Amino acid sequence: MTAEFIPPAKPLIGDEERAAVDRVLRSGMIAQGPEVAAFEAEFSEHFKLGRACVAVNSGTSGLHLGLLSCGIGAGDEVIVPSFTFAATANSVALTGATPVFADIERGSFCLDPASVEASITERTKAIMPVHLYGHPANMVALREIADKHGLKLFEDAAQAHGASLNGIPVGAFGEFGMFSLYPTKNMTSGEGGMVTAADDTIERNLRLYRNQGMLQQYHNEVVGLNNRMTDIHAAIGRVQLTKVDAWTKTRQQNADYLSSHLEGVTAPPVAEGAVHVYHQYTIRVADDRDGLAKALKDEYNVGSGMFYPVPNHRLKPFQSPVELPETERAALECLSLPVHPSVTQEHLERIVTAVNTLAKAGA
Ligand SMILES: Cc1ncc(COP(=O)(O)O)c(C=O)c1O
Repeated sequence: MTAEFIPPAKPLIGDEERAAVDRVLRSGMIAQGPEVAAFEAEFSEHFKLGRACVAVNSGTSGLHLGLLSCGIGAGDEVIVPSFTFAATANSVALTGATPVFADIERGSFCLDPASVEASITERTKAIMPVHLYGHPANMVALREIADKHGLKLFEDAAQAHGASLNGIPVGAFGEFGMFSLYPTKNMTSGEGGMVTAADDTIERNLRLYRNQGMLQQYHNEVVGLNNRMTDIHAAIGRVQLTKVDAWTKTRQQNADYLSSHLEGVTAPPVAEGAVHVYHQYTIRVADDRDGLAKALKDEYNVGSGMFYPVPNHRLKPFQSPVELPETERAALECLSLPVHPSVTQEHLERIVTAVNTLAKAGA
């Protein structure tokens, strides 16, 4: 095997990011400061969110603080997908509330509104869909359900910078929305998260919880955390904001190429009115997904990822007897192929040859 390895993800850090970090280090002011404030304003403006953004030190912190800021706590239930990264349910559990797992739609891999409605109890306070892989969840149906039952609606947009539904950007639908800025995401700040707030109270609460419960030094209003973003991280994020649109376009072009050339596997469908930003390009492999992943690596040097082979309701902290057939099926079938901006035409052609040959051979 001589062809170079095609990694499933590749963070892109350039000279501009290095210069921005250097600028902050030289300023002597490296904790949360003017870079964070500028990053918050620029992020909101860039993604046309039309609301305030609050930067924190990780996406997980962003979900946790968003939930606290909207009054979620002990005794409450929040409906979430099981087919997601554990941070979604972890953040609910950390507030003292209970994550209740609903099933996903076969097409989008995102929460199924019918399953959500069937999961509502008298303790349900909110619904928190995930825009999984960069595809928006069905926010129109979920908003209708939330309004009908007097529930709050939140967004885990960790993987969906720039995605939209019916022209509305994700992060602008819920009482809060959270974008992760982890290195493998569509843009990064090193580690970090950005939380959108639907109103001034939620924004104020986010800023309080982020900073030990203080807006004014030593005038603590609530019990809070230290979840602040540093100016070093914000400086990286500000540069990445100037690049993310071009990267997204490349992801979409790569996805179009794969979808029009792959055979024998199910390509990811895009719902009507949805803009998919392909954090992951996830196919379904009906027979022996694990065997296909191994053969892709061994025979073609193509990396791939399984997000997520163990659904949250089967994980030790969350074990639940709930039956989620589409979630179980997706966990067995999902395989993410390289789609990131560093994937070249040669890579795309090798991925297509590899998948088509192996799928036909029944690997
Ligand atoms: C769906 C989802 N939610 C939440 C998170 C948490 O984000 P972070 O890793 O920035 O804490 C991630 C990141 O991996 C994620 O993919």
